[in-house]
Amino acid sequence: MKNPTTLGEFIFECQAEYPEATGALTSIFSSLRLAAKIVHREINKAGLVDITGAAGEINAQGEAQQKLDVFANEKFKAALAARGVTCGIASEEEDHYVFFDEGHNLNAEYVVLMDPLDGSSNIDVNVSVGTIFSIYRRISPVGEPVTMDDFLQPGRNQVAAGYIIYGSSTMMVYTTGNGVNGFTYDPSVGVFYLSHPNMQTPTTGTIYSINEGGYERFPAGVKQYIKYCQENDPSTHRPYSSRYIGSLVSDFHRNLIKGGIYMYPTSTSYPQGKLRLLYECNPIAFLAEQAGGKAIAGVSTRILDIKPEKLHQRVPFLVGSPEMIDKVEEFLRVFG
Ligand code: AHG
Ligand code: MN
Ligand code: MN
Repeated sequence: MKNPTTLGEFIFECQAEYPEATGALTSIFSSLRLAAKIVHREINKAGLVDITGAAGEINAQGEAQQKLDVFANEKFKAALAARGVTCGIASEEEDHYVFFDEGHNLNAEYVVLMDPLDGSSNIDVNVSVGTIFSIYRRISPVGEPVTMDDFLQPGRNQVAAGYIIYGSSTMMVYTTGNGVNGFTYDPSVGVFYLSHPNMQTPTTGTIYSINEGGYERFPAGVKQYIKYCQENDPSTHRPYSSRYIGSLVSDFHRNLIKGGIYMYPTSTSYPQGKLRLLYECNPIAFLAEQAGGKAIAGVSTRILDIKPEKLHQRVPFLVGSPEMIDKVEEFLRVFG
């Protein structure tokens, strides 16, 4: 039997197809892979730390124990800064973008945007969480400090995007605009192996995912679509199953594989939507489209075409199997 392909080998083989490639993107992926392993290790200790660190909140180095989303942010930021191939980052955990001005980073061509720990409220209860990342080529001249415009690019400009899911196993799923591939982590060897080559989402599915507690506050079109999902019609496999973890990465990952729709619409509680365009919606939308799915913010509004206006911008988000997105769009068109 052929040895399984590792993530490192896969990236190297892909790079070899582009003789003009500088290897910078490969280095960024090495950084992401390293930080992912460290976060994996830490997440797997969640719960244990409370026992072993019960004496107080100060760890052996005399530092206060950090929340895991802050920990993840620091690890990904440090790993990216260390390789000299990223000129700056923006993160859900940072108020402003961060400019890397040390060493080769000043001449680097790429910026990385991330949600270091998505679904972090699930950590305490041993439910899957993730890291989401998005990579763009800078617009500002190389050698100068990055600018806000480097980060406020429409999602269709993404060079690569992906997520790490820390679940029953840890996986990295990513795209560079040439399909989606998934790699499963073997912690005993410290290596990600290609386990899900060329991931394609089913054209339709039987899962709908939404925080239905907000039902009364949703737009009429979303309410009507939820009712449609619940109707009894065996010819279209309805009623659909309702599945909602409350961690976007995990909900999306399941629907990507099984077929389904995920919705975080506007509501009276979140008039702009809740999810962040730059750190959550754009990377997930890029992956969805690359896997044959669709991602919209509303009627005729493709997520990847939205021109961001600010770093932490929120948008309504509907993503999933293409026929299901078309259907909900019909409801939005008719009922608003
Ligand atoms: P984060 O942990 O990065 O703040 O993201 C939480 C997000 C997303 O992962 C999830 O789908 C959504 O918030 C859940 O929100 P509700 O609890 O409002 O359903
Ligand atoms: Mn998140
Ligand atoms: Mn987060």
